[in-house]
Amino acid sequence: LATCVYPLKMNSVKALAESPDLNHIPSIYAYSVNSTELPASDLQDAIPTIDFSLLTSADPDLRSQMIRELDTACKDWGFFQVINHGVPEALMNKVIEKSAEFFDLTDDEKNEFEDKGVLDPIRYGTSFNTKKDGILYWRDFLKVIIHPDFHYPNKPSGFREVLMEYSKRTREVVKGLLSGISTSLGLDQAYVEKALKLESSLQILVVNLYPPCPQPELAMGLPPHSDHGLLTLLINNGVSGLQIKHKGKWVNVNNDLPNSFLVNTADQHQIFSNEKYKSVEHRAIVNNAVKRLSVAMANGPSPDTAVEPAYKLLTEERCKRAYNPMKYKEYVEMQQSNKLDGKTCLDKVRV
Ligand code: SIN
Ligand code: FE2
Repeated sequence: LATCVYPLKMNSVKALAESPDLNHIPSIYAYSVNSTELPASDLQDAIPTIDFSLLTSADPDLRSQMIRELDTACKDWGFFQVINHGVPEALMNKVIEKSAEFFDLTDDEKNEFEDKGVLDPIRYGTSFNTKKDGILYWRDFLKVIIHPDFHYPNKPSGFREVLMEYSKRTREVVKGLLSGISTSLGLDQAYVEKALKLESSLQILVVNLYPPCPQPELAMGLPPHSDHGLLTLLINNGVSGLQIKHKGKWVNVNNDLPNSFLVNTADQHQIFSNEKYKSVEHRAIVNNAVKRLSVAMANGPSPDTAVEPAYKLLTEERCKRAYNPMKYKEYVEMQQSNKLDGKTCLDKVRV
């Protein structure tokens, strides 16, 4: 009698994409797009650009001007590019290079980190959450918690040093952006840093690998979602695939400015601003020609902080509190243990 034996180890999309003569995707990867959905448009020119060197400038006029632009970017887009941020281009390239090398390790080396618990410090997996996804997404991932406690996969060699430096440098950028955002909300410049205890901020490095897909129009890399933290800093290997929802329509974010970060505003940002600023919904599509790799640095509050709308925004503007407090690590756990589904996680903390 033939017995049906399921493989014990995960089936990566990378291995599937490398199988010879793959012309069709297995039906478990077939994603159905809402039939009334319009094709995504290109609007790259309009995506706001924030010059970080002006935001942190000693000249108050230059800083004020950039803070106004940041306010508009947060209100109209929830998404922007950051230039002149001080993180060396060579370091950003190394992050992409070492992240790509991780996926080229042997299965045994990678499977040591096979995804078990959603808050494990190092997680290697496929799709988003195979227990909940329903269908599978055309994506393999590596997630590493790098702050406040630093973790790293011991291979590829040199990954540790690169991650440690990248963590430090990106935290500086996030601190600068959040101080600008605090000011633009009418709060003290150091409000977010203090209230959300950024010195012990939770930083998770998420590497997304999207191998070439023989039927890209039928598959999805990552479905529509918003991120759980405050700000996500994204870089990629120069291949397009990110789309953001802008005024109800999907917009392609094509190759960005050289040496820049693409920044997503995330759910905790929407919560502490009492919805004055919204987190941006985004997704990743795939292509049939080249491998796409993106590295998302998810930056949140400290894990034990219960995030709630800033008190001053409620009293001065006499508005209703839109969210109940929830510890950030509980929010992360909730988001990671469920199906990725647009911005539905926020509903669980809405008043
Ligand atoms: C994500 O982290 O949401 C994916 C972004 C991307 O692949 O560009
Ligand atoms: Fe995301």
